[in-house]
Amino acid sequence: MVVALDKLLDVVCVGAAIVDIPLQPVSKNIFDCESYPLEQISMTIGGDAINEATVLSRLGHKVGLVSMVGHDAVGNFILEHCEKNGINAEGIKIRDGINTSINIGLVTADGERTFVSNRNGSLWKETIEDIDLEKTTRGRILSYGSFFNNPRLDNRALVRIFEKAKEAGMIICADMIKPRLGETLDDVAEALSYLDYFFPNNDEARLMTGEQEIPKVAEKILSYGVKCVAVKIGKEGVYIRRNSGEELIVPAMKGITAIDTIGAGDNFAAGFISGLIENKTLRECGEYGNVTASLAIQSIGATTGVKNRGMWDRQMAEYRKQYPV
Ligand SMILES: Nc1ncnc2c1ncn2[C@@H]1O[C@H](COP(=O)(O)OP(=O)(O)OP(=O)(O)O)[C@@H](O)[C@H]1O
Ligand SMILES: [Mg+2]
Repeated sequence: MVVALDKLLDVVCVGAAIVDIPLQPVSKNIFDCESYPLEQISMTIGGDAINEATVLSRLGHKVGLVSMVGHDAVGNFILEHCEKNGINAEGIKIRDGINTSINIGLVTADGERTFVSNRNGSLWKETIEDIDLEKTTRGRILSYGSFFNNPRLDNRALVRIFEKAKEAGMIICADMIKPRLGETLDDVAEALSYLDYFFPNNDEARLMTGEQEIPKVAEKILSYGVKCVAVKIGKEGVYIRRNSGEELIVPAMKGITAIDTIGAGDNFAAGFISGLIENKTLRECGEYGNVTASLAIQSIGATTGVKNRGMWDRQMAEYRKQYPV
């Protein structure tokens, strides 16, 4: 099922669509071995925007993806994934002369990890020129995968994207990652001022604001003009604060054994945004985020946990038993 872009989408996800190749378990003396057989080596879908788009689509929403890939087998793999998952891919630019980004993850048996990435891959090369601003405005909500993930989508580029989205009356959401190049919140101050909802995790939010206490962290973020911040606090759930002063903690699902937390944040965002699409309250949006993330972390891979809406509905019913209204 491919959604036609002339129909309004619920969400347009903008950001990274790449391939991850997890290699595990590897030992630290890997170079002492002439050959290193593993049980499995395969391409898996990765990248904030495609992870979010995949989960949103499985939850039953009309989703478009705006990203860039190279003209190569990895790019085809990504386009095929979109087709299989009902994600509108008209906003994916296929650029000649670059490789689609591949992220190779080396993981030791005790969970230590390092990533090998291509600094000339699509993720690092994508600029504002690669983005069709017509395609980013075709939905009710624009979700920008993560501040600081695409190094060339800087403050100026993001302001152009967000300005257009606001003109089109969209709600704007975004997550962030720890900056790789030493960027600060001040470097993206203007872009932040467009955000209706911002989803950093606690570590990132503390690091970027220099504050320790969550309410202080949130206040600092709101001082940039962000209208509502949801600080993810792992197994504690999420702390949400609006610029009106409204403040709440929405607890995480209890009794979850986390197997793989990669993509927990992307799943949280997809869940929260689902709540926005369904006109839920702020607390319910937080619950949607927590429930979605709880499914994601119980299986390996960012997009393997949430399979369909029925499964999600059952998890939500369980959550409701833990926290009756
Ligand atoms: N042990 C847990 N039990 C239940 N829910 C959890 C647990 N750990 C994480 N979560 C859920 O996952 C959400 C996101 O987790 P976390 O705070 O680790 O985000 P993140 O660091 O942005 O994730 P990512 O590693 O994908 O960037 C939490 O807000 C919570 O809903
Ligand atoms: Mg995160």
